[in-house]
Amino acid sequence: MKAGAGLFSALALFLLLGTVFAQRPRPKRPTKRPATTRKPSLPQPALPAEPEPQEPTDFPPPIIGPPSIFPDCPRECLCSPDYPNSLNCENRNIRVIPLIPPRTYYLYLQNNYISEVTAEPFINATAVRWVNLANNRIHRIDKQVFEKIPALLYLYAHHNQLKEIPSGLPASLEQLRLSSNRISKIPAGAFNKMGNLTMLDLYHNQLSDSDLGKNLFKDLKSLMQLNLAQNTLKKMPEGVPSGLIQLFLDRNRIDDIPKDYFKDFTHLAFVRLNYNQLSDKGVPKAVFNISSLLDLQLSHNQLTSVPTFNGHLEHLHLNHNNIKNINGTLICPYSLQDDPSDFSLLPRLRYLRLDGNHLNPPIPMDVIMCFRHLRSIVF
Ligand SMILES: *[C@@H]1O[C@H](CO)[C@@H](O)[C@H](O)[C@H]1NC(C)=O
Ligand SMILES: *[C@@H]1O[C@H](CO)[C@@H](O)[C@H](O)[C@H]1NC(C)=O
Ligand SMILES: *[C@@H]1O[C@H](CO)[C@@H](O)[C@H](O)[C@H]1NC(C)=O
Ligand SMILES: *[C@@H]1O[C@H](CO)[C@@H](O)[C@H](O)[C@H]1NC(C)=O
Repeated sequence: MKAGAGLFSALALFLLLGTVFAQRPRPKRPTKRPATTRKPSLPQPALPAEPEPQEPTDFPPPIIGPPSIFPDCPRECLCSPDYPNSLNCENRNIRVIPLIPPRTYYLYLQNNYISEVTAEPFINATAVRWVNLANNRIHRIDKQVFEKIPALLYLYAHHNQLKEIPSGLPASLEQLRLSSNRISKIPAGAFNKMGNLTMLDLYHNQLSDSDLGKNLFKDLKSLMQLNLAQNTLKKMPEGVPSGLIQLFLDRNRIDDIPKDYFKDFTHLAFVRLNYNQLSDKGVPKAVFNISSLLDLQLSHNQLTSVPTFNGHLEHLHLNHNNIKNINGTLICPYSLQDDPSDFSLLPRLRYLRLDGNHLNPPIPMDVIMCFRHLRSIVF
């Protein structure tokens, strides 16, 4: 009985505390006052006695390290004697970028609370090649920053709050990662003269067709990887460089591919269009008959038949469409009458996903007869 009553009152106290905590108004600005301080009975003064802090205090304070052997090493960063060209300022609760020493090639600022990037810290950091700003709260990168670091090769600024592509990006860039921002605007000529850019990652932003002008990509002669997945595109992007190897367009609203879209691509090996609105009508016959293609992903669309593909294709994802039957003779990229002992002629398909369609086992015999290299088929 006693234990039961004790439990009951503990529960009541817990519920009461819960109510108190739930009712406590959320302070607009967290104060430095420790939680244990009792509430004064006097009404709160209109202005706090302490001066308002310059920065919101809901972030933990920057982590300050021991003095470095490098006198120019900012206290919130680490400077390893073994890597004098690296400045490690990641995971240090930094809000404001410290003054970057001139010896810095590799600058790590990821996983902090930085909200804007201005030119001042870079004033003498002209040697910087790599900058990682991922996982911050950056909503602005001043274009003057890039005037200070003209030899920049890698700019990583994914997982931030940018609303547009930064202006004044240097022509030297090779990799640009801006995924998981809020980008809905690309300034005119944003990628002009960037003839060395090999990777452009704009995954998970708010880009629509009208943001991708016809000439936007025209100077990107070296581009190999373009990721525009998880945006709001309804059309295939125009003017994509034809030397591309990877094109990722998953999770858009694309319902149609122009007939000659891939005609000029010479190295295209990986195409992903999962989670779009493609039906047979929007996929012209033989549009994916691209001899360089190795991996084609069309899952979670509305296809009712298997599109034509090339004998060189190795991986094909067609899961979660509306495919009701599959005719191995029709989709076979070579004639079943050809000499089957010539292995070089055999289609190279090794992996095929067809689950989530309206197909029933068994796998048709002509599929097995055609695709002799097939190692795995998900039905
Ligand atoms: C930048 O370099 C110049 C010339 O070496 C020097 O005079 C100046 O103090 C440096 N600025 C900062 C902020 O370190
Ligand atoms: C592009 O790369 C080449 C070869 O590495 C280099 O010579 C050239 O200066 C680079 N272009 C720019 C604009 O940095
Ligand atoms: C696919 O392309 C090859 C050349 O790579 C060509 O020989 C073949 O006829 C094409 N198939 C279809 C169905 O267009
Ligand atoms: C598959 O397509 C070929 C060629 O159009 C046709 O002759 C054959 O009857 C079809 N097979 C089945 C099982 O429908």
